[in-house]
Amino acid sequence: MANPKLLILAGDGLGPEVMREARRVLDWLHKRRGISFDLEEDLVGGAAYEVHGVPLADSTMARAQAADAVLLGAVGGPKWDALPFALKPERGLLRLRKELQLFANLRPALCFDALAEASTLKYEVVAGLDVMIVRELTGGIYFGEPRGIETLPDGQRRGFNTQVYTTEEIRRVGRVAFELARKRKNRLCSMEKANVMESGVLWREEMTKLGAEEFPDVELSHMYADNGAMQLVRNPKQFDVIVTDNLFGDILSDEAGMLTGSLGMLPSASLGAADAQGRRKAMYEPVHGSAPDIAGRNVANPIATILSLSMALRYSFDLAREADRIEKAVSAVLAGGLRTADIMQPGKARVSTSTMGDAIVREMEQSLAAG
Ligand code: IPM
Ligand code: MG
Repeated sequence: MANPKLLILAGDGLGPEVMREARRVLDWLHKRRGISFDLEEDLVGGAAYEVHGVPLADSTMARAQAADAVLLGAVGGPKWDALPFALKPERGLLRLRKELQLFANLRPALCFDALAEASTLKYEVVAGLDVMIVRELTGGIYFGEPRGIETLPDGQRRGFNTQVYTTEEIRRVGRVAFELARKRKNRLCSMEKANVMESGVLWREEMTKLGAEEFPDVELSHMYADNGAMQLVRNPKQFDVIVTDNLFGDILSDEAGMLTGSLGMLPSASLGAADAQGRRKAMYEPVHGSAPDIAGRNVANPIATILSLSMALRYSFDLAREADRIEKAVSAVLAGGLRTADIMQPGKARVSTSTMGDAIVREMEQSLAAG
């Protein structure tokens, strides 16, 4: 059987240096576990713009379509901030999401024991936290039409975007969330602003219907997204799976991320619809951005990218055992006291990007020796 195809798009800022550490994990899997991928590398974001004049070349898009999964680093940076919208690095990422139809974005907010002290929230609020946010990723105000900036007759300018969802867009992401809840604690909380937005009313109605029709065994609740934001810092452990739209999901997942100590820890998976063989198009990426301020200095935290690879093994390649191995290795390294700058705590050892990568691979090797 042919090796599965993995397309690596390291992108901008700290993307390349954190991706280098994920590559080492892949090398280890190849050498020590006989797990091989057909790896391809290509450009996205500002890096692509410099070479092709666009943030994602058509040839790269075609490679992504042909891949079994994409692993992406980060996009963006001040160098490209002044470009027109269509050429900004972020458009490269949005095009991948849209054209691969990756409508379900899974963002786990998991607090590693060793890091519960590092959160800006109290230990007892975050220790043991394990929440999964499912963010709709290809609809809503990110893509809704009409959009634009126009000049009014009186000379004022008017900026506008459209929040829009159809029944099917709501139901397909809802299904992913309900199914995940079933594999977890069987609780799903749907968030919108049905008190002020029609799209929120529809969202709530459709989630309710879907629950009654297909997932009566899952405990479904609803919350206004602003209350949800508050509840997430008040008592985050009340949640199991949260499902929400594109924009609220963008915001709430950053918030949930910070509960875990650092955005530098958070992976994500973006999944499309299952085909006849049950395979989904998929892209995996850390939740953090390109962090141009610390890029290139070997201080960034590679864990979010390594955990994104682990999600790829779990969701795209049916390699849950190896995914577990990676996650345990990360846990062990943290328990051993190593910290990159973003999660540094008193009394711990501050290490570089590459030293953190080394330590994780070493832990994986040890887990093998231990059987
Ligand atoms: C994210 C990011 C992106 C988004 C940006 C980079 C376009 O914030 O993945 O959460 O807004 O979706
Ligand atoms: Mg975001």
